[in-house]
Amino acid sequence: MPKTEDAILGALAGIGAGVVLLCLYTAAQFLSFHFITPSKPLQKYKRGDADAYALVTGASAGIGFGIAQELVRQGFGVILLGHLPDELASAAETLRAIHPDRPATLVRTLTMDARTATPDEMETALASLSPLKITILVNNVGGNPVANPPFRTHATYTCADVDAVINQNARFMARLTALIIPTLSAPAEPNQRSLILTLSSGGYIGLPWLVMYGATKAFNRALGTGLAREFTTDPSTSHIDSLVVLPGEVRSQGNCRGVPGSAPLAVRFGRDVVRKVDGAVSRGWREMHADWWHGIEAALVGIAPEASLTQGLTDQIRVKKEAWNEFWEKNR
Ligand SMILES: NC(=O)c1ccc[n+]([C@@H]2O[C@H](COP(=O)([O-])OP(=O)(O)OC[C@H]3O[C@@H](n4cnc5c(N)ncnc54)[C@H](OP(=O)(O)O)[C@@H]3O)[C@@H](O)[C@H]2O)c1
Repeated sequence: MPKTEDAILGALAGIGAGVVLLCLYTAAQFLSFHFITPSKPLQKYKRGDADAYALVTGASAGIGFGIAQELVRQGFGVILLGHLPDELASAAETLRAIHPDRPATLVRTLTMDARTATPDEMETALASLSPLKITILVNNVGGNPVANPPFRTHATYTCADVDAVINQNARFMARLTALIIPTLSAPAEPNQRSLILTLSSGGYIGLPWLVMYGATKAFNRALGTGLAREFTTDPSTSHIDSLVVLPGEVRSQGNCRGVPGSAPLAVRFGRDVVRKVDGAVSRGWREMHADWWHGIEAALVGIAPEASLTQGLTDQIRVKKEAWNEFWEKNR
């Protein structure tokens, strides 16, 4: 066989072997990340203290409540931020019952409306928390707070609808994070760290009838990944980890109609978020899919041709749109 053909065959075999190795490595990473989780997660964010706190926004229900519940199980104090005092009080009672022997003050509530909170209100609220050692911020609050019906074309949005989504999903999170970084930057011993978890969504790629929601979720993703990169540039913040969570469908208080039967429940999803942070951070990832099936969906989205992607997303959101429309028609 001529030398050129040998060389081509050798190169192709090398590429093939490389591709096989890459696939094996990716599969091993995927399996070990999702199915080997630490028995005591997030220890380095406790900073050796029994009273390290996590501030969780949108924590009275849904994924935020699930995350808060697992943080309490792991021995953290939590501050539950929400806008309905009764719901917050009831969530706090449920969480205190997990460790009835621990001081009730390890589960606190902070009533604040993410849509309307002013900078002064936010600064005052954070100042009231200043004696607490907060080492974790969970930027969770988010949703689609538009006038009914909730799934509509962008042309039907009023300016109030546009502002409500930006305020709740983006502005509040960006302001709160800026205000709390000095607290999270408090000097730490080696191996003691702080953490910012930011809930984005697989919808950051852009969704029909949910254009503003998807756009703010892209904002959340860039906020979290930008912070992660920025923190490494300064010794005073290099001990803060910033990780974006990219959920697919999760059955929650807010996402409860037209949801596929395979979607995890919010409490289980929140538990998985807490258990998988260490694995993602140790791999140097800036974002993670806490549910294995969401990870597979995202990989498929990454390789799907645009026409198929548009069709698939449209079909998926249409089911939710019709379910919400039906509910709204019956209840208006
Ligand atoms: N569920 C999903 O399928 C899914 C998928 C992708 C991404 N996500 C993201 O995950 C996060 C949590 O979603 P979720 O489905 O768990 O939400 P959810 O069930 O609607 O829960 C929202 C939580 O936020 C609180 N909240 C609502 N409006 C608020 C406001 N204006 N100010 C302060 N708190 C407020 C609610 O408290 P009250 O009870 O007081 O109203 C509740 O505790 C969001 O950022 C969402 O975009 C969710």
